[in-house]
Amino acid sequence: MASIDIQHSSTLSTRKSRDKRAHTAPPLEPFSPALEREMAPLYERVKTVVTPMEWMQYAPLIKQINTLKKERNAVILAHNYMTPEIFHCVGDIRGDSLQLAKEAARADGDVIVQAGVHFMAETSKLMNPDKTVLIPDMKAGCSLAASITAEDVRALRKAYPGVPIVTYVNTSAAVKAECDICCTSSNAVQVVESLGVDRVLLIPDEFLAKYVQTKTDVEIIAWKGRCEVHERFTAEELNGYRKSDPGVRIIAHPECPPDVIDMADFTGSTSAMINWVKTERPDKVLLVTECSMSSNVSAEVPDVQFVRPCNLCPHMKRISLENIRDALLYLEHEVTIDPSVAAAARRSVERMVNLTN
Ligand code: 13P
Ligand code: SF4
Repeated sequence: MASIDIQHSSTLSTRKSRDKRAHTAPPLEPFSPALEREMAPLYERVKTVVTPMEWMQYAPLIKQINTLKKERNAVILAHNYMTPEIFHCVGDIRGDSLQLAKEAARADGDVIVQAGVHFMAETSKLMNPDKTVLIPDMKAGCSLAASITAEDVRALRKAYPGVPIVTYVNTSAAVKAECDICCTSSNAVQVVESLGVDRVLLIPDEFLAKYVQTKTDVEIIAWKGRCEVHERFTAEELNGYRKSDPGVRIIAHPECPPDVIDMADFTGSTSAMINWVKTERPDKVLLVTECSMSSNVSAEVPDVQFVRPCNLCPHMKRISLENIRDALLYLEHEVTIDPSVAAAARRSVERMVNLTN
């Protein structure tokens, strides 16, 4: 097996990665009939959603990444919103936010590369502090995480004394540290009800809070954050699809506006949506969520037809094969957590994980 010239080191320091960044990446193996044959089992996984011409670009990088992964003793955690060549061809562990958080805690090896956004990498670091956690692009943020600060949460505590604060996982570690417990889209109702109180603050997603309110008698007080991808879907748009094809099944993420969720046949986390499609096998389905997920599921269930109003998350789309390769090659960009917030933030996440294990 070909190896790539990397400097082996037990202390994977960022200083070393800065030094190494002065060099350019090693040349890629050209796409040849031999490489095509070697990579054929991986192409099999994505052949219905990646064209042969695209594969000629991706295959050399995928081979380089998978070689580097072994040399770095690294694992790639890939969120369901990654593009298919990342999700199916280099991701070792794939899933929604809850699954990735749980798997991060169990991850072997020295390095975790988060193919997702920054709050997910922070969560991995909280769950497995001894690992080097890398994110291929530090600017991969989230409109929900950006909508609230630790100071905002402290102000909420003062305004609602004694009311527990549940934070969606899509927040910074500093915000998690100020809250009582974390939740994800797959367990928000369960987490809220576990607290045994009449009123909770559920921050920062206003639409997730509204959705949870429809499922529980606990009074939910919301913040005003929104996902910039899911808030763009409208009931009018979905009505248009339903009118042109009354048989289409509509599956929504709980970050969507309430009138969109009202129209859905099923609502759940990204992995719950995927499981629904794999189990129900509808003829035609519209996943009201980030666009790449339809391609990822479609690669696995080619008999299902996907209707695709394509809303992309600009933050998730910052992650590419090139910057995943660079993350492994140069050990960049390391995600660290301020020690003054790490313990409290970890407690919020672990409390959720223990509850839903
Ligand atoms: P999931 O936890 O459902 O994967 O959601 C993460 C996310 O960012 C959705 O926009
Ligand atoms: Fe954040 Fe929305 Fe992007 Fe998910 S899809 S990372 S919630 S902006």
